[in-house]
Amino acid sequence: MTAVATTTDCRNDCAVQSDAADLSTIGPLTSVVGAAELVPLTSGDQIRYANFDYAASAPALTAVADAVAASVSQYASVHRGAGHLSQVTTRRYEQCRDTVRRFVRGRTDDTVVFTRNTTDAINLAAHCTPGDVVVLDIEHHANLLPWVSRDNGSARIVSACDTLEDTLAALDAELAAAPAALLAVTAASNVTGEVLPISRLASIAHRHGARILVDAAQLVAHRPVSIVSHGIDYLVFSGHKLYAPFGSGVLIGRSDWLDAADPYLAGGGASAQVSLVDGPDENCASTAWHSGAARHEAGSPNVLGAIAIAAACEAIVDLGFELIGLHEAELRARLDAGLAGVADVTPLRIFSDDLDRVGIAGFSVDGHTPRAVAEYLSDHHGIGVRDGKFCAHPLLARLGHTDGAVRASFGLGTDSADVDRLVTALTELTRIAPGKAHP
Ligand code: ALA
Repeated sequence: MTAVATTTDCRNDCAVQSDAADLSTIGPLTSVVGAAELVPLTSGDQIRYANFDYAASAPALTAVADAVAASVSQYASVHRGAGHLSQVTTRRYEQCRDTVRRFVRGRTDDTVVFTRNTTDAINLAAHCTPGDVVVLDIEHHANLLPWVSRDNGSARIVSACDTLEDTLAALDAELAAAPAALLAVTAASNVTGEVLPISRLASIAHRHGARILVDAAQLVAHRPVSIVSHGIDYLVFSGHKLYAPFGSGVLIGRSDWLDAADPYLAGGGASAQVSLVDGPDENCASTAWHSGAARHEAGSPNVLGAIAIAAACEAIVDLGFELIGLHEAELRARLDAGLAGVADVTPLRIFSDDLDRVGIAGFSVDGHTPRAVAEYLSDHHGIGVRDGKFCAHPLLARLGHTDGAVRASFGLGTDSADVDRLVTALTELTRIAPGKAHP
C-alpha cells in the first residue's frame, strides 16, 4: 500500500484506513448513503451490498443528501414568487450555477443550463449546434444518437484506431477534409474507463475551426476538469454519476449558439413576452424568448437536483482530486491485478496504448454469458455489476462483444474488501462449469 495507507492526511473517519496487521486495507474515501445496506443471497443469508455499478449511477454522498434535506424545508417556487422563501430558493438555484462553473473552471460568460442528465444536455447541444459534427464510434449512445438524428447538420463518424495516436490523426484528417462545427467526444469511456486527452482533442478541433463538446459524464467525479485550461467549448455531465442522484445534469459552454437557437422547450420561464394579438404567425401569436440559461429551461426547474449537484461539486472539492485519484488508483490496481489472476477473465480495452483509466473495468468471462456472471455475483455474493452493451452498441461490436460484457465500476464508497470479494467471487465462478452458474 502506498501514499493513501495512512490516515493522518485523510479527511474523515471513512478515509483510507491504516492497519498495522494489513497495510493493504483500503477504506471508503467518504461516506455514501446506503453503504451498510444488506441484500439477500440465494443461501438465505444477507450480506452488505458491494456496489460495483458507480458508472451507471453513483450513490448519493451523505453530504449531498444532507444538503438536499436542509434545502427541502426552505423549498418554494423558483423565479416566480415574491415571497421570502421563493427568493431564498431562487437565489440558491442561481448560486448552484456559479458553484458548477467554479467546479469545472468555466469562463465567466459561459451559460450553465441545468438539464435532466447528460443525454438531455447533449440533445440540447445538438439542437443548438449549427452544422456538421464529428464523433468517434466509441461513444455512449448519448453522444451518438442526438447527432445522427437531427436536421441542422450531419454527423460524421470516425472509426477509432488501434492506438490513441492514430485515432487523433484520424480525427485531424476528418476535420481537415471538410469543415465541421463541432467535435463531440467522450472524456472517459463508460465501457473501459480509458481517459482521452481533452486538451489535445480541443487543439485538433480548434486548429480546424471547429468547437469541442466534451462528454464528461464518466470523468467529473474522478479527475479535475478545467474548461479554460483544457480549451473546452461545451461540457456536459450528470448529477447521478457525481454522487448527486436527484435528477439533474449540466450543459455549460459558450453562449452564442445557445442564444441563437430556438428554446429547447417552449413554455413559461423561457418566454419573456407572449402576445396572441397581431403576432406574425398564423395564430397571430408572437413570443419574445429569454436569452441565457432561462431560454432552455422552460417549466419549473429541478431545484433540488441543482442543489444536489452543487453540493456534490463542493464535497468533491473538499475531498480533493489528489486524494480521490490516489484512492481510485489503489483500488484499480488491486482490481486489475485480481482480474488478471482469474484465468477466464479478459479485460476490455479500446486502445492498445496504456492509458489512464477511471474506476471502470469492463471484462468478459469465457464460458459464461454476461448476464449469468452478473446474476451469479448478485445472487451468491451480493455484488452489483452492470452487464450488457452499456448503451454503446457500436463500441461493443468493435470490441467483438456483440452479446455484451460485464462492467465493474467503483468510486468513493468502495473499499478493498469489496474488490477482494469481487475477485474471489469471479475466481469461484470460473471453477463452476459454464451453464452451472446457478447451482
Ligand atoms: N451511462 C450509464 C452507463 O454507462 C447508464 O451505465
